[in-house]
Amino acid sequence: MTDDRPRQLGRTPPMGWNSWNAFSCDVTEADIRTAADALVDTGLREAGYEYVVVDDCWMAGETDSEGRLQPSADFPNGIAALADYVHDSGLKFGLYSSAGTETCQGYPASLGRERLHAEQFAEWGVDYLKYDNCGDHRGRDAIDRYGAMGDALASVDREIVYSICEWGEHAPWRWGRNVGGHLWRATDDLVAKWRADPDEFGLGIADVINRMAAIDAAAAHGPGGWNDPDMLQIGNGPASGQSEHEPVDVQRPLTEAERRSHFAFWCLLAAPLMIGADLTSLSAFDRDLLTNERLLAIDQDPLGMQGTRDRREGDEEVWSKRLQEGAAVLFHNRGDDAREISTHVTDADVPAGSDRYRVQDCWTGNEWETDGSLAMTVEPRDSAVIRVTPR
Ligand code: GAL
Repeated sequence: MTDDRPRQLGRTPPMGWNSWNAFSCDVTEADIRTAADALVDTGLREAGYEYVVVDDCWMAGETDSEGRLQPSADFPNGIAALADYVHDSGLKFGLYSSAGTETCQGYPASLGRERLHAEQFAEWGVDYLKYDNCGDHRGRDAIDRYGAMGDALASVDREIVYSICEWGEHAPWRWGRNVGGHLWRATDDLVAKWRADPDEFGLGIADVINRMAAIDAAAAHGPGGWNDPDMLQIGNGPASGQSEHEPVDVQRPLTEAERRSHFAFWCLLAAPLMIGADLTSLSAFDRDLLTNERLLAIDQDPLGMQGTRDRREGDEEVWSKRLQEGAAVLFHNRGDDAREISTHVTDADVPAGSDRYRVQDCWTGNEWETDGSLAMTVEPRDSAVIRVTPR
């Protein structure tokens, strides 16, 4: 199966905000308006975060008599008015449904009613659909279910980014593009922890990094179709009530080093950057991290390559990502003590054929030159990121 649909959308990894991590099923129209305002006021819109996505629980418990989705009482002005508000803020509007009979929280979803719902989304002014994997699948496989919504979205008179949320269960990087997807979750739900307890729900940041290194998904990734390791957890954590039942050693916000590493890896992976935090309580550190121009340029590089792991030895990791000009190299320290981590341009995905390279530290902006050796001192659980350009 090939997809010959035009791919103007998603030429670079989509950026925006999603309601799920911060508001879960309590989301209201007012929360979405506030989030849109906050994207503008914090400068996040200016930095490129443009989609405001309402996740699960926006819909009423019953469809209308013809099977159309209806907004819940928490969205009193309806979805079209909310989309207008978001558009008037210079942003784009996203909505959620599921490729089953119900959403993950038990609300009506779209299986078997794809065309009807895609028409509703288009009429309401939806620019982005997150399409989950819950509910009864009625015996239909993932490609068939996600393909039905892909075809429905292609048939309506509006360009809608199609975000497949199949949790990586049936290797969606092998078929996501062919069913019209612009991004597809490659992994299970991410929670605001460095490592998750295997007996509890969700994956930690280090768990997802390991999984992204292990799966054979990088080749499918590029302009128009992206592997999605889930929302950014920067700004989330115990303070938002998410981790109140956890053991004491993980009942703490991610450290600054862990947050830096989280963002650095997502940018090196050229991941979609969907912020999961409540934007009204974002710290200055988190805001500055999320708007770091040097890191965002790596994520949004027009070549669209996913970075890959060059080596892992004990507590040291080196990853690299080819860029339109030069490459980005990430040095990660998994250990508990600061250490120097080194590599050479010939071992990283840096364009060959030069004997001088310009190097820039993406955190500090400091620049220097090298004949090819690269070394950075990295604090525990932190990551250094450099941009390396042949002279
Ligand atoms: C999960 C999905 C989450 C969120 C949630 C809503 O399946 O992975 O990102 O959308 O459902 O119920």
